[in-house]
Amino acid sequence: MSKNKVYLDNAATSFPKPPGVAKAVLYFMNEVGASPGRAAHMGSIEAGELLFETREKIASLCGVMGPMRVIFTSSATEALNLAIFGCLKKGDHIITTSFEHNSTIRPLKALEEKGTIKFTVVPPYDKHQYTLDCLEKHLKPNTKAVVFNHASNVFGTAVSLEVFSEFARKHRLISICDASQSIGVLPIDMDELGIDLLGIPGHKGLCGPMGTGALVINDSFDIDQMSPQKFGGTGSLSDQIVQPNFLPDKYESGTPNMIGIAGLSAGIDAINAESIGKIFLHKKELVNYFYQRASEVKELITYVHPEHIETGTISFNLEGLSSSELGFLLSDRFGIQTRIGLHCSPLAHQAMGTFPSGTVRISFGPFSRKSDIDYLFDAIDEISNA
Ligand SMILES: Cc1ncc(COP(=O)(O)O)c(C=O)c1O
Repeated sequence: MSKNKVYLDNAATSFPKPPGVAKAVLYFMNEVGASPGRAAHMGSIEAGELLFETREKIASLCGVMGPMRVIFTSSATEALNLAIFGCLKKGDHIITTSFEHNSTIRPLKALEEKGTIKFTVVPPYDKHQYTLDCLEKHLKPNTKAVVFNHASNVFGTAVSLEVFSEFARKHRLISICDASQSIGVLPIDMDELGIDLLGIPGHKGLCGPMGTGALVINDSFDIDQMSPQKFGGTGSLSDQIVQPNFLPDKYESGTPNMIGIAGLSAGIDAINAESIGKIFLHKKELVNYFYQRASEVKELITYVHPEHIETGTISFNLEGLSSSELGFLLSDRFGIQTRIGLHCSPLAHQAMGTFPSGTVRISFGPFSRKSDIDYLFDAIDEISNA
């Protein structure tokens, strides 16, 4: 079998990007190159317009009316750190889930170790499913926030946003949602649901470059509840040495990553042109095809029913090999790029019984094809018969 290059690691970062992304990056680098909002010259104005338009695109994708409620960050991790460190205070209790990525669980743990907060990790009632009842059991009088991952980066399953937002509304909690795996695949209407803060990457489902992300703030969220985590130049109120208290400047200091944002803007255009609904269906079709092929390989172990996979991410193992051995062979001998081990989510593996050995994870993007899956199964066949 000849060695191809097949990328199946879109849950880490999407690749390839739509062609408009690299074009937009190059255009900004070569033709604009200016810092937005710091000057009145034409380059600065063009950069400022691009920045504003990209905020509008993200706001509309997330169901928020105010574009200034989109805070650009370097990643989903930075966005979630801003929400967690910005909102949580001494004595608070937080409810979170067993499906968190380290980008939420580690900030919570760091705050707990400093003696600032305590948190409870709520197990699901079944696989990745949560009900109001199972969350309410863990409420305390000082519970301040619920921090939850919308879709698992390991198993591709998703929680019901309605359950978490109802829980937060009913008990007046701040809701902080990690939409790293769902943005660009599943619809999210923050205002309708009442999700307060949403952390998103720009470089996964939105197909932008690495180094992009945002914290999206609900229109009704009172920003006095969240302190900034970065202080510095904003181009506004330059006569004052205190941080501005309006959006987005309260949380955005320093020259923005305009090169990344130019690419992100083009990535979102491509996603919108295709439509999130079509991307979702494309990934569902690939997941079903994977499971159809998997049923022919008796040594292949999967962990969730394909019906429950919402984001085109699948975890599996092959009997007789560790996930790292299989991942290495797939890459080294066949050029298939997967992700192995625990995927920065030890709690999710504990909840699903795959800790500490982990799984091989494949994750589809808008450009993945059935032929990639056929090639993967040819490789698995050769490995199992070696
Ligand atoms: C569920 C989840 N949350 C957060 C992150 C962190 O995203 P970023 O790399 O943009 O910081 C990831 C990345 O894999 C993820 O899958």
